[in-house]
Amino acid sequence: MQTVTTLAQLQPLVNNWRMAGKRIALVPTMGNLHEGHLRLVEVAHQQADVVIASIFVNPSQFGPGEDFDSYPRTEQQDQQQLTAAHTDCLFMPSVQEVYGDNPQTHVSVTGLASLHCGQSRPGHFNGVATIVCKLFNMVQPHCAVFGLKDFQQYTVIKTMVQDLNIPIEIIGVETVRDANGLAKSSRNSYLSDSEKNTAALLYQTLCQTREAIINGNRNYTELARQALLTLQNAGFQPDYCNICQCDTLLPAQTTDRALVILAAAKLGKARLIDNVHFDL
Ligand code: PAF
Repeated sequence: MQTVTTLAQLQPLVNNWRMAGKRIALVPTMGNLHEGHLRLVEVAHQQADVVIASIFVNPSQFGPGEDFDSYPRTEQQDQQQLTAAHTDCLFMPSVQEVYGDNPQTHVSVTGLASLHCGQSRPGHFNGVATIVCKLFNMVQPHCAVFGLKDFQQYTVIKTMVQDLNIPIEIIGVETVRDANGLAKSSRNSYLSDSEKNTAALLYQTLCQTREAIINGNRNYTELARQALLTLQNAGFQPDYCNICQCDTLLPAQTTDRALVILAAAKLGKARLIDNVHFDL
């Protein structure tokens, strides 16, 4: 695996692969890699000839008081894991390389970015859309692979690509989970062992809510209220639980068939997000 840190180093590699007719997949990450990221690399290999992973802890997607400084940085282990996963290239730029001295342009997916996580993390999705757009311009991949655990992020990126006519295929990959259902996440490292057991209740609650809907309950407001109560009683500080239409992430109507239940909740030091998406 070749590791590069500047656009000047990356561009000739990408040009050579493109001239040789290779299809290139990008796997954008913030590092601290786990099985969920390695599954993205695996899917990238199935979709393309060349896999480029990026590691960049993006300051513009963290709000004031959030965990930018303490976000786990494990670059050496990450490089070993990516090498073992046969990644062709790792792009690991500095903040200066990505943003320069005085950036004045950002990407904002209005509407979608202000829903759900966007309400408690204002500016977060602008930071995500901006960095992903920048990585797309720098790496120029044919496709890019994202985890569906961050369902709203995936929807924001798909919308950005469509709205800005970016010729990159966006591929979503199902969430990888621990045996108890807890979604793999770098932020799970903030949880104690007993909190990890409790944390699994987030997914279990979403699954119970999905079961109720599949069994015919269409009182989405009440179902969401019950889910929040269950989480609260288990020791979470729930942020939201919303039953939504899958593409727009707007509140589901009883006639909608493609649904996603999105939830975020704090447990100890960690803010956890999860979702279940399904067709009726
Ligand atoms: O999902 C993540 O790890 C990040 O939000 C991403 C997509 C790499 C952008 O910084």
